[in-house]
Amino acid sequence: CGIVGYVGPRPSQEVLLGGLRRLEYRGYDSAGIAVIDDAGTLHSRKRAGKLAVLSDDLERMPMSDGTTGIGHTRWATHGGPTDGNAHPHLSHGGKLAVIHNGIIENFAELKSELIAEGIEFTSETDTEVAAALIGREYTATGSLERAFRAVVSRLDGAFTLLAVHADEPGVIVGARLNSPLVIGLGDGETFLGSDVAAFVEHTRNAIAVGQAQVVVARPEGVEVTTFDGAPAEGEPFEVSWDASAAEKGGWPSFMAKEIDEDPEAVANTLRGRVQHDTVVLPDLDALGDDYFTGIDRVVIVACGTAAYSAQVGVYAIEEWSRIPSVVELAHEFRYRNPVLTERTLVVSMSQSGETMDTLMAVRYAKERGAKTLSICNTQGATIPRESDAVVYTHAGPEVAVASTKAFLAQITALYLLGLYAAQVRGTLDAERRAELLTEFQTIPEKVRTVLDVRPRIRELANWMADTRSVLYLGRNVGYPIALEGALKLKEIAYIHAEGFAAGELKHGPIALIEPGQPVFVIVPSPRHDDTLHPKIVSNIQEIRARGARVLAICEAGDAAVLPYADEVIGVPPTEPFFEPLLAVVPLQVFAIELATAKGLDVDQPRNLAKSVTVE
Ligand code: G6P
Repeated sequence: CGIVGYVGPRPSQEVLLGGLRRLEYRGYDSAGIAVIDDAGTLHSRKRAGKLAVLSDDLERMPMSDGTTGIGHTRWATHGGPTDGNAHPHLSHGGKLAVIHNGIIENFAELKSELIAEGIEFTSETDTEVAAALIGREYTATGSLERAFRAVVSRLDGAFTLLAVHADEPGVIVGARLNSPLVIGLGDGETFLGSDVAAFVEHTRNAIAVGQAQVVVARPEGVEVTTFDGAPAEGEPFEVSWDASAAEKGGWPSFMAKEIDEDPEAVANTLRGRVQHDTVVLPDLDALGDDYFTGIDRVVIVACGTAAYSAQVGVYAIEEWSRIPSVVELAHEFRYRNPVLTERTLVVSMSQSGETMDTLMAVRYAKERGAKTLSICNTQGATIPRESDAVVYTHAGPEVAVASTKAFLAQITALYLLGLYAAQVRGTLDAERRAELLTEFQTIPEKVRTVLDVRPRIRELANWMADTRSVLYLGRNVGYPIALEGALKLKEIAYIHAEGFAAGELKHGPIALIEPGQPVFVIVPSPRHDDTLHPKIVSNIQEIRARGARVLAICEAGDAAVLPYADEVIGVPPTEPFFEPLLAVVPLQVFAIELATAKGLDVDQPRNLAKSVTVE
């Protein structure tokens, strides 16, 4: 869910709706706001559906405005996406409003306690329980801050909570546990948000609220304390991107814009980190001198697209640095008692830095004595803050739910990590490293060339708009690209799609092939490789013999593929390890074009949220 708060001199509705618009990627099952007007009355409006439903409603039937307000956009957990389950939830005779992100795990027990006292509930949410508890404490204490404090220390699970009370205009009280909250300091006005996108158009001066802290926000600033009321400090930082980076800027969708930014995502992640023939990553100093000489294993934990980038990365890290490296889905890793020692480096890969599954895996790794490194695209997010070291990907804000440019930036960061580890461990000769680094720096330009295939892929997608299933095959680093290509299609075009290791096909999935079945095949360049290329050409023949329609992504002019493919998408020649950065681009384009041909909302696909902050 996305959370925004505003307290200052301006009418808050517009600020709240603007913030929610930028946070909508965190969930769009419902939206709602609550404001306190000058007369000390609380007004609230909430609607199921996307933010547009709420803003149209407010336009048709305006609501009184006020200079203190909170807003919420929801990704449903407890209770379906209805008006009633939407936030804010009110209590204390409609004078108190509460919004929440996360899951309160002990809500059932707290709810029974309240029901026993005769309190009635109108929604199925855990949030309404928190609102009722704060309301009850308000009656006892007469202070929003005291009431809030008394409640947050009783809640288990994950939450960011914001509350306002009609009798205390000019104050928002917030708290977080295992879920993000960032403060934005303006000139005589203060903002709160799930992330900086909530307020970056107003200020770049931010403070990340720490774990288990309470914030009391007023126009002139904030007071941060622990749950018990002891003075505490958040972590101040300046937002490095400006609001225009998170605008569509003439593109039909954020996803289209973000795919167009694939080249810059690679370039910006490389920038300043390659000097002459060396990788420079001062970000890793926090792990200790020569840290990479002493480790014996790298485990990358991640979910979704980030896990596929990690799968690409481990091929390179292992090859270059000879450190045994694996990827584990964060939610599996955490619950299976993995072998970890102080010589294991647990790398978390997360665009948002807030994915709860990944965060819990990081905490678990730390508890078990491993060192943790975060690769993340979001400054001030929880995962990098809780890790021993962080390497930021500089893809810029990614708004569309389906990840695209961040994926390229993630692979880039992992490759830098692999080359760096190889440099420290002396496992790659300097000349070879120099060659790779020189080629690496040509990748942004090559990705740009690949983007030129957009019109052709659009035709292909239009032609395939009724397709019910698409398969993807790859080998080696092309295998995770097949998985990622399939994921993109599932996420935004709702088409059944599956990726396979091409060699595995004959062991089962080949039974799926029937005449006309479209199959994307990611073909490695024939120039570097005399083992994989002929194998994949054989795989193409095997599926073709069974009637598949072969869509090959290969090096431009690959003569061995041409005779057997129905469609050929050529990419520029490069080193084998850099091929994934080129091959994934047509697959991203294919997914967006097919979803567009089907008339779907590519930025906000059904049932998904960009940042899933529940386990
Ligand atoms: C969600 C999103 C995916 C994303 C995954 C990991 O499931 O819908 O697009 O890949 O989370 O997100 P992260 O922010 O940790 O990279």
